[in-house]
Amino acid sequence: MEISVTGNAAPVPDDRLAEILSAPGFGVHFTDHMLTVEWTPEKGWHDARITPYGPITLDPATAVLHYAQETFEGMKAYRHEDGSIWSFRPEENGARMARSSHRLALPVLEVEDFVAAVDALVRVDERWVPDGAGEKSLYLRPFMFASEKFLGVRPSQHVTFMVIASPAGAYFKGGLKPVSLWLTEEYTRAGRGGMGAAKTGGNYASSLVAQQEATSHGCDQVVFLDAQEMRYVEELGGMNMYFVYDDGHIVTPATGTILEGITRASIIELAGKLGHSVEERRFSIEEWRDDVSSGRIREIFACGTAAVVTPVGSLKHAGGEIPAPADTGEAGGELTGRIRSALVDLQFGRAEDTFGWMHRI
Ligand code: PLP
Ligand code: COI
Repeated sequence: MEISVTGNAAPVPDDRLAEILSAPGFGVHFTDHMLTVEWTPEKGWHDARITPYGPITLDPATAVLHYAQETFEGMKAYRHEDGSIWSFRPEENGARMARSSHRLALPVLEVEDFVAAVDALVRVDERWVPDGAGEKSLYLRPFMFASEKFLGVRPSQHVTFMVIASPAGAYFKGGLKPVSLWLTEEYTRAGRGGMGAAKTGGNYASSLVAQQEATSHGCDQVVFLDAQEMRYVEELGGMNMYFVYDDGHIVTPATGTILEGITRASIIELAGKLGHSVEERRFSIEEWRDDVSSGRIREIFACGTAAVVTPVGSLKHAGGEIPAPADTGEAGGELTGRIRSALVDLQFGRAEDTFGWMHRI
């Protein structure tokens, strides 16, 4: 894919950039450029360009505004100590976007073009990749949407793929401490045959009211159960979950309706290397309650690109509370910490990449 580049005549000045990178927050500042590619059935993907970052104009009848035909990805670029810049398993994000786009009847962008597009934007906005101290990174947000001006309900005949980038610090304010959870018994995230396994805006739109419910109960995040039996644990609004047992084995929910994280898949392999087997299976809310209560579950954590590995504390629900597992310290459990370190050390180039997961940009 040929990508043209138009420089930004007014990039953010160096002193302002240094100020932003010292405390980037999450998703609030954006780099000097953005990448855009268009698709039509006649021409396929075409007109790939990097231009100065800025607002885009959409006709009020643009399909995505009405029917939410869109997909997105979340990934990061990391600066290593020698100044080089790397992404983590970007072809997995490209492959997942292709699966999501298939589910949303959007055209598929080849993984190779997806990776080339992301790399090209990072290269142009290279100065926006923070140094790795404090685990800061450049969060990358590729997304694809129905850009045809048409109100009929059918797959859009004009589609736009874009990549934007935003320097990122910790996703949760307050540093690394266990998050408290709320179990929603009113809302579900995904049903059989639905879009649960796709990374599409509608899943996040539908999670917001449940997240509001969690917040109103004083909890940080919401836990969703399966839609059919309201019994099996699915995931959080933006993270997958892990339960660590006293004999060292780990369980992570698998229901077919969760968003299967790239962090999740990587942790399954990393945990294996640390000598912990990981079972992917249905995991019921009764097991959570009983196995914490008996002391068999020692730690719980959640993971995702934005939140990395985050310890989980107690779970509140309408009928009461399941307390944090016994080994949950101030900053989570011991194995949670080891898995987190193994992952971030690899991402920031502090540990050897024996898996071949890092991609040099
Ligand atoms: N589950 C949901 C609903 C998410 O939004 C995310 C974040 O991307 C994840 C899980 C974790 O996925 P990944 O590890 O690929 O970031
Ligand atoms: C991610 O971890 O990349 C996510 O997409 C979670 C959230 C920011 C939507």
